Amino acid sequence: MKKEYLGVDIGASGVKGAIIDIETGELLSERKRIPTPDPSTPEAMAKTFADLVKEFGWKGNIIGCGFPSIIKNGVVCTAANIHKSWIGTNAERLFSDATGCIVTVRNDADVAGIAEMNFGVGKGKKGTVLIVTIGSGLGSALFIDGKLLPNTEFGHFYLKGHNKVVEQYASDGIRKRKELSWNEWGSRFNRYLQHIETLLSPNLIILGGGGSKKFGKFEKCITVETPVVPAKLLNNAGIIGAAIHAFKMERKLQPI
Ligand code: BGC
Repeated sequence: MKKEYLGVDIGASGVKGAIIDIETGELLSERKRIPTPDPSTPEAMAKTFADLVKEFGWKGNIIGCGFPSIIKNGVVCTAANIHKSWIGTNAERLFSDATGCIVTVRNDADVAGIAEMNFGVGKGKKGTVLIVTIGSGLGSALFIDGKLLPNTEFGHFYLKGHNKVVEQYASDGIRKRKELSWNEWGSRFNRYLQHIETLLSPNLIILGGGGSKKFGKFEKCITVETPVVPAKLLNNAGIIGAAIHAFKMERKLQPI
């Protein structure tokens, strides 16, 4: 069985990729990264995507991709941290045309969640499991007994007393921009988790994205009752999950 798949994770600051062993979730190549173009228009991103794929000398006919937006049938529906002209663009078609490969595109947090549920701390976990990715924005992936409910966007509700969506209050991007201390940011993030806990009563919360690497710095601020753990695959989860998703799509299997 073919087991090597290329996964690409598109973020607000970098486009990252690696060849993944989808049986083990291990990286079979080095992780490569190209800065996200500015402005991050569809044309500029398609070129960056194709450049990254070329760097791997990829000969497979399918590539998996995580993208920081709501994605429906390959079409980008929102653009919180990327150029607004993405809205309505068929990203699957655009990246396929740019590379000559079939490209499957899904929300970045959803594919990161797929990786954690297959190979990380979510493996075998039943009940309600929520993955929150902490980066330029806040991404979410919700699993009920291992099955994904896609495009949940739990970074986009409003907390009482705030007139901006919650990712404008508690993302890692905001921590950096406002130069918040870990305690200041940690208590904001805890407030976010408290609200999530009230809404969903999850059995487990897994923290992914770049911010999850710093879990030790804000762990003491987290007071919710739900167990909160950092993702095992840290910020490689998006790449790994994108590759798993491509494999499942090629085999016409359920994403998870
Ligand atoms: C986007 C989500 C994405 C998250 C993490 C948010 O701004 O709306 O779709 O998953 O950022 O990249």
